[in-house]
Amino acid sequence: KKRFLLKQEETENFPKSRLPQALIIGVKKCGTRALLEFLRLHPNVRAPGPEVHFFDKFYHLGLEWYRQQMPPTLKDQLTIEKTPSYFIGKQVPVRVHNMSRDMKLLLVVRDPVTRAISDYTQTVTKWPQTPFFEKMAFLNASTGLIDTAWPPIGIGVYVRYFLLWNHVFPPRQIHVVSGENLIKNPGREMTRVQDFLGLPRIVSDHHFYFNQTKGFPCVKKSENKGVPHCLGKTKGRTHPDIAPETIDRLRDFYRPFNQKFFQIVGRDFMWH
Ligand code: A3P
Repeated sequence: KKRFLLKQEETENFPKSRLPQALIIGVKKCGTRALLEFLRLHPNVRAPGPEVHFFDKFYHLGLEWYRQQMPPTLKDQLTIEKTPSYFIGKQVPVRVHNMSRDMKLLLVVRDPVTRAISDYTQTVTKWPQTPFFEKMAFLNASTGLIDTAWPPIGIGVYVRYFLLWNHVFPPRQIHVVSGENLIKNPGREMTRVQDFLGLPRIVSDHHFYFNQTKGFPCVKKSENKGVPHCLGKTKGRTHPDIAPETIDRLRDFYRPFNQKFFQIVGRDFMWH
């Protein structure tokens, strides 16, 4: 019997694909790739590179399919997956909860005005014919009425989506990461993330250096690459200049939503 138990234990610790225990659910263009790549520096963390989109696009393929998308892990390693569109998917919170009520959720946020411009910049890269930012952001240029149905604007109303998650998961299972701090002080922001995930503090200041040319923190070395490297070209794009009046209008629009969001999360992200 003893031998049998030992064998079972051995197979249990054999590397195999396991369902994730943590998810980076969003927000798109707030630094979700940076967060995932920084977490992957941790020896106890494994994650698929591409976005899996199980809970929004491929739910019909079932849990076994989902599990197969995960890299092999040992029992004490944490499997994590990032798909930023989860945050805005109406059915996603309940679906995640149905799979695992203990799921740990990470949400990166940044000033919604910067996020909107970043999102717009990405759209222009894909569709160069996209009209000017102002043309898209305002329903009526003279009254300054904002088009909240335009996703680059709408997604920035974080509180609207956050409430759905908050309804399904207790606050202790949701950790909100400051996208601004992830750029300014990645070491400190990663300490908070590791504490939340119950991981030993391994990823720290020592892993990063500020690359002046890129204008962002980059990684000194990782398991895969022994040389310094930054995120790819699609991360850290140059944004177009937007008129200060437009920025002011957007700030006014987001202010009440931001306040409500800070209140619920219990942290002021200082987007003034
Ligand atoms: P921009 O390319 O508009 O500057 P996501 O990965 O969620 O799509 O977010 C992309 C954004 O992450 C980038 O938007 C960039 O501002 C931000 N970012 C945060 N840390 C970064 C890093 N170390 N390197 C590059 N971009 C980073």
